[in-house]
Amino acid sequence: MKRSFSGIQPTGDLHIGNYLGAIKTWADMLDRYECFFCIVDLHALTIKYDTSLMAQRTLDAVAVNMACGLDPKKCTIFIQSHVKEHAELCWILDSVTPMGELGRMTQFKEKSKSHPENVNVGLFNYPVLQAADILLYKGEVVPVGDDQVQHIEFSREVARKFNAAYGPVFPECQALLSNAPRVMGLDGVNKMSKSLGNHIAIADPADVIRKKLATAKTDPARKRRTDPGEPTKCNIYSLHQFFSTPEQMQWVEEGCRNAGIGCLDCKGVLADNIIAVLTPIQARYAELKADMNIARRVVAEGAARAQRIASAVMAEVKDALGLYTG
Ligand code: AMP
Ligand code: TRP
Repeated sequence: MKRSFSGIQPTGDLHIGNYLGAIKTWADMLDRYECFFCIVDLHALTIKYDTSLMAQRTLDAVAVNMACGLDPKKCTIFIQSHVKEHAELCWILDSVTPMGELGRMTQFKEKSKSHPENVNVGLFNYPVLQAADILLYKGEVVPVGDDQVQHIEFSREVARKFNAAYGPVFPECQALLSNAPRVMGLDGVNKMSKSLGNHIAIADPADVIRKKLATAKTDPARKRRTDPGEPTKCNIYSLHQFFSTPEQMQWVEEGCRNAGIGCLDCKGVLADNIIAVLTPIQARYAELKADMNIARRVVAEGAARAQRIASAVMAEVKDALGLYTG
C-alpha cells in the first residue's frame, strides 16, 4: 500500500470546508493507503494564539477527526510536536531550500498581509516544516484542499533537491484533491475559512446552522421572492451539490430559475441535509468528548508508531548527509 500523509492545524472550529475538502477524503482512503494524520501544533505557533487553549484544541481536533471517520485501528493519528524529528528534518531541508521560493508562497504572502505585526521566520519557513512532515514518512500521496497544492508541489521540489544533492532518499509526493477542493464560504465571495467567520462548523447545532444559512448570500438577482435566479451563480446551490440528492438538485434548479421556490425554501432543504450528515458525527464527537482518555490513548499509540518510522528515515537521512552518528 502507498503511504499517505496529511495534517491539520489545531486552531479551533473545524468546518464543512475542512470536512468536504480534506477529512472526508481521509476517512474514505483508510483501506487503500497506509495513512498518517498529524495534528500540526508546531505549524500553529506561527500565528498568535492563546496558550491556555492549545492543548485542549489539539485533543479536540483528534476527537473531531475520529468522529468524522478516522478509525485509529486503520490509520496512525498523532501530534506533530510528539515526534521531534519533524523539527530536525525541517532544519536539514532548510539547507536545500532557496529563500526566493519561500517568499513566493501564496499562503506566506497572504498571512504576512493579514498579520503584518507578526511576520515571523516560522511563517516564512512553514512550507519547509510541511515538507519535513511528509518526507519524514516518505509520504507519496497527500490529501488536501486546493489551497495546499502549492505547498505539496514545493515539498516535491525539496525532495528532488535533497535527492540530487545527497542521493535518492525521498519519493516524490503528490496532492490528492477531493471533489470539493475549494468550498466557498457563506459570504459567497471567499473560500470557507474559520478566520473569516463565513463557515458552518462541524460542531454547529442545528439551530445555528439554520440561522447561518438564513443570512447566507444567494444569487444577487433574486431580490424579491418573485425574481427568477440562476443557480450556477448561487453559492447555496454549490453547497447543495455536496449534500443533496439529484432529485433535490433538480427541484432547486427549476424552482430557482422560474421563481417557483423562494431562497428560504431552498436553504431549508440544504439545512436539513447538512444537519443529517453532521448529526451522527456530532453524536460520536460528544461520546469522545465525554472521555478524552480515548483520544489521549490514540495519540500516544500514534506517536509511538510514527516515531519508529521517523527514527529509521532520519538514520537514512543522516547517513546520506555523511554526518558522524557514533
Ligand atoms: P486548515 O483548516 O487551513 O488547516 O485546513 C485543513 C485542510 O482543510 C487542508 O487540507 C485545507 O486545504 C482544507 N480546507 C480548508 N478550507 C477549505 C475549503 N474552504 N474548501 C476545501 N478544503 C478546505
Ligand atoms: N499546511 C496545512 C494546512 O494549513 C497543514 C499541514 C501541515 C499539512 N503539514 C502538512 C497538510 C503535511 C498536508 C501534509 O492545512
